[in-house]
Amino acid sequence: MIPILGTMTFAIPALLTALTEVPEAVINVESAGELRRLEDIAARCGRRVTVAVRVNPSRVHLTGSLQMGGRPSAFGIPEPEVPAVLELAAGLPHLDVAGFHVHAVSANLDAQAHLDYVHWCLDFAVRTARTAHLDLRVVDVGGGFGVPFEPDRRGEQPFALDRFGEGLSRLPVPAGLSVIFEPGRLLVADCGWYTAQVIDVKRSYGTDFVVLRGGIHHFALPTSWEIVHNFAVVNRTADGDPKGTDADADADPNADTDTDPRGTDPAGRAVTVVGELCTPEDTLARDITVGSVRPGDVIVFPMAGAYGYEFALAEFLGHARPRRVVLAPTDETIRAPGSQPAEPE
Ligand SMILES: Cc1ncc(COP(=O)(O)O)c(C=O)c1O
Repeated sequence: MIPILGTMTFAIPALLTALTEVPEAVINVESAGELRRLEDIAARCGRRVTVAVRVNPSRVHLTGSLQMGGRPSAFGIPEPEVPAVLELAAGLPHLDVAGFHVHAVSANLDAQAHLDYVHWCLDFAVRTARTAHLDLRVVDVGGGFGVPFEPDRRGEQPFALDRFGEGLSRLPVPAGLSVIFEPGRLLVADCGWYTAQVIDVKRSYGTDFVVLRGGIHHFALPTSWEIVHNFAVVNRTADGDPKGTDADADADPNADTDTDPRGTDPAGRAVTVVGELCTPEDTLARDITVGSVRPGDVIVFPMAGAYGYEFALAEFLGHARPRRVVLAPTDETIRAPGSQPAEPE
């Protein structure tokens, strides 16, 4: 197994120094400047280190919502500049370029497009290595496999891993070349749910707002790009028992809500779900038709296990961090390191 390290863009000198000490590591490098810094460090440590050059392709055909490549970006070296950077690296005696790293997209659901992308990465790597007289050993094609956030509204299907695997097995890979994947979201997204209690339901100039005891300081993923993150409403009945309803379902537009002391129920109307922070940025969903939703109910966002808790703006306004509860397969509830025990509300 090849440890691939330093993939998280622009490693600080202390990290580069630590990485040079890892035997057989391949260090992904983001820029010509980082190559030079690594050369200095490797020279000081008296070691020769193996690197992969991160490439920002000129064009990325993937349909994924988040693109770090095919456009101006802080990530990687623009494709037209790669030959010059390889020439620079060839003159740096403590660096051994073993290949390329391309992580150009995230959240892609199209298996065929992902196959085409991997195919392009391999083809690019082989062509470029041949021209530069490189001994190509590594092509790291990054992550980017998506999960369906909107299966109901947009009919999104899970990434077709079987089809992808089958296509991969037919891709020609030169002997001695390791192809590396770095999946993130696909592995853990469906391991997490974000839940927050409704503290108010109000109407403003014709728009219904559902206000949560939570928001982007707990869970910023829905605001990070233009997805509509599916959610469900778990209603608290009068006796406190939960009764789940999916957003877009169970709407009863004729329900008489004006007499309810808990306020207006926007059942059957589109709502905007906002958090408790003092900024309009704190919006988790817009224009989603819901069934009944009242203060005390709970909103549940699935697929929150990747880029969820860690990705949130935790310090903004100094609210308490959300509780993290880890459920063991046996249903036994155990505590995550640093989290508080779950208590029934
Ligand atoms: C270099 C690199 N590789 C892999 C990943 C994982 O990506 P994903 O979660 O889209 O699979 C990331 C995520 O930020 C990344 O920066």
